[in-house]
Amino acid sequence: MSQKQIGILGTGVYVPEAVLTNEHLEKMVATSAEWIMDRSGIQERRIAAPDEDTVTMAVLASRQALAAAGMEPEQLSYIILGTNTPPHIFPAGAIRVQEELGIGGKAAAFDLQAGCCGYNYALYVAERLIAPKGGYALVIGSDTNSRFTDWTDRATCVLFGDGAGATVIGPSSQGRIIQSFIASKLNMNLTVETEFNNEVSPFLPIQTHTERHFLRMDGRDIFKFAVTALKESIPRVLDMAGLTREDIDYLIIHQGNYRILEAGARFARVPMDKVFVNIHRYGNTSAASVPIALHEAVLEGRIRQGDKVLLVSFGAGATWGATLLEW
Ligand code: ACO
Repeated sequence: MSQKQIGILGTGVYVPEAVLTNEHLEKMVATSAEWIMDRSGIQERRIAAPDEDTVTMAVLASRQALAAAGMEPEQLSYIILGTNTPPHIFPAGAIRVQEELGIGGKAAAFDLQAGCCGYNYALYVAERLIAPKGGYALVIGSDTNSRFTDWTDRATCVLFGDGAGATVIGPSSQGRIIQSFIASKLNMNLTVETEFNNEVSPFLPIQTHTERHFLRMDGRDIFKFAVTALKESIPRVLDMAGLTREDIDYLIIHQGNYRILEAGARFARVPMDKVFVNIHRYGNTSAASVPIALHEAVLEGRIRQGDKVLLVSFGAGATWGATLLEW
């Protein structure tokens, strides 16, 4: 295999310590632990501490990914943070990650917002940035969903959690990105508004704070979209690679709902024991979901050298995309 191939060289994860169980949620909103488990497959999720945010979690996951790759931060040319919950609109969270890693000014760092598909998007962009000239990129998915969750809305508050996953990518003689694509189409059934939509103007009376910045979702519509996105994405990326469903050794799907994972397994024609599942422990961690799943699958020995691994995700936007890897 030639050195010009780009592959994943190391992975890392950070999830907050605090666990919010379905039983906790029973005391907060009109729901039951059974309803949540039956409809989503989620048992518990992690919630960031007050002194944690998307960047602090991303830094801890990144340090682990760099160590796994046997690399120093100085070797990075790019840092791309896939996130929907940056602590600031600007500066970009990725630039704070860069600073925390002690390489201020030494790499180009930026955020990328693509819903729960943020990691697939970031990986797609990073590969194309480093392919022509080489170099290494830190590709992160990190989200603090608890900060824009309406904790009185039972239809959404049971689904999401916080966490970060990171990978280092670069020229690799073992393992490579075979093919990938990303796509989008407007869907307003899963939104978070910014406060910018409040009518703040020197010509108007001062507006009071609104709760518009909470996540709002039509779950049924998003469920249908997610299933359609998987149905399209799996054969599409395989076609691009000239491969078939029989070639898939392992499937990593965005952990949005257990029933969506089952649909993905059906479309890929792989048994559920070849589909990574950790939604019961973390819920939907948005952009962090795929890199956390990849890290855990590798750690648990489910993915072995030479395996063809398909990473597929869908998210707010709407966005969807897939990356086919040889590990
Ligand atoms: N507890 C009890 N009942 C509830 C709860 C709850 N937590 N939430 C909703 N219900 C009720 C509803 O009010 C509804 O009652 P009604 O029939 O009297 O109106 C009933 O349960 C059924 O609601 P549905 O929405 O039809 O339930 P469904 O089986 O579709 O499951 C769910 C809901 C889990 C949200 C599902 O639609 C889903 O997973 N959707 C996709 C979510 C997802 O993946 N989002 C992430 C996308 S990626 C990103 O970028 C963030």
